[in-house]
Amino acid sequence: MYWEGRVLISNNLQMHGKTCLVHNSTACAPALFDVLTEDTQGQPRMKLQDTSVFDANSPQARAILHLFYFDLAISAVIFLTVASLVLYAVIRFRQRPGEGEPFQDPGNPKLETLWTVIPALILLALLVATAYTMRVVNPPVIRSDPNVAVIAHQWWWEYRYPHSGVLTANELHMPLGKKWLLRLESADVIHDFWVPGLGAKVDAIPGHPNYLWLTPSKTGVYLGTCAEFCGEEHALMGIRVIVQSSEEFEAWQQSQLRVPAKPTGVEAERGARLFEERTCMNCHTIADTKARGTVGPDLTHVGDRQTLGSGAIPNTLDQLTKWIMDPQKIKPGCNMPSLKLTESQAHDIAVYLEALK
Ligand code: CUA
Repeated sequence: MYWEGRVLISNNLQMHGKTCLVHNSTACAPALFDVLTEDTQGQPRMKLQDTSVFDANSPQARAILHLFYFDLAISAVIFLTVASLVLYAVIRFRQRPGEGEPFQDPGNPKLETLWTVIPALILLALLVATAYTMRVVNPPVIRSDPNVAVIAHQWWWEYRYPHSGVLTANELHMPLGKKWLLRLESADVIHDFWVPGLGAKVDAIPGHPNYLWLTPSKTGVYLGTCAEFCGEEHALMGIRVIVQSSEEFEAWQQSQLRVPAKPTGVEAERGARLFEERTCMNCHTIADTKARGTVGPDLTHVGDRQTLGSGAIPNTLDQLTKWIMDPQKIKPGCNMPSLKLTESQAHDIAVYLEALK
C-alpha cells in the first residue's frame, strides 16, 4: 500500500538531494498517502491494490502466476534431486587412503537413454504449460477495434476509448469483469505497459501495435509503470488503472463525454484567460475552448484525476500550482517548460484547471 509513496519519495530524494521537493520535507510519506487515499472532499478513495504479481486480480495475471508456480516447482524438484545425488556421490565415492584410480565405465546405454528421456519429458511439460498460458493470456486478436487504445508518450500515457470517444490521460478506467482488448502504441520511443496485479508486460512500439487482454476481477486502483527505459523521466511514467463496477464506469464515461461548465469566479476566469494567452493551449486541449494542442495530455477533465504528471504528484490545487510554476522541478527533463509565471498567475490557472471536472 505504501509502495507508491515510497517510490515517489525515493525518486524525489534521488533527484533533488535530501528533501522531498513535493512537500519540502523528509517525512512526507503519510501526507502523500493521505492525499492519495482521500479525494478533495476528504472522502475515502478506492482501495489501492498491492502492486505485486503475487496479488493477481485477473484470469490473465492468475494464469501467469500459476505458470510461475509450476515452473518453480519443477525447478525445485530438479535442483533437490541433482544436489542430493551430487552430495551422495561426493560422500559415498570419495577417495580413501590407499585407493587407486576408480573403475572407468565406458558407457551405459540404459542410463544414457534415461537421462535423455527424463529432461525431454520435463521440457515437454513446460512447453505444454507455457502454450496453455499463452492461450489464456494472449489469445489471437481477430478484431481490429480495441476497447482502449493506449498511446505511450515521453513521459505520460494517453487513453482513447474508440467506442465512446472518451479521451483521457494517465489514469485508465476499466469496468469490472469485462474482457477488454487494449491496443498499445507509442508516439515516440519504445515504452512498456506493465500493471503487475492485472496482467502481462507488453511493449508499446512506434508503428507496431501490440495487444493486451485484461479482465479485472476486483475493483480498486492498480498501479503500474513503464517498464522499458525510455529516457530521462522513465522512472516517473506511472500508470493507474481504476477498476470500477459497470455502473460506475458508465457514469464516469458519461461524465467524460460532457463538456465541463465554464468555471466561474474571478481567479478561474483570470486563469482561463492566462491559459490562452500564455501558450498553454499550444500543447493542451480543453474541449469547447480555443485550446486545441495535442502535444501534451488533454485537460478537458483534468480536475477529475487523482494524480498529475503521470503519477508524479497528487492532484491538489497546491501541487498543480507548483507544477505550473516549474514542472522541471518536479519532473526534470519533461517536455513542459517553465513559463516564468508568477505564483499568483500559476495559482489562477490551477484554480481554473481544478474546476474542469
Ligand atoms: Cu516510458 Cu519508460
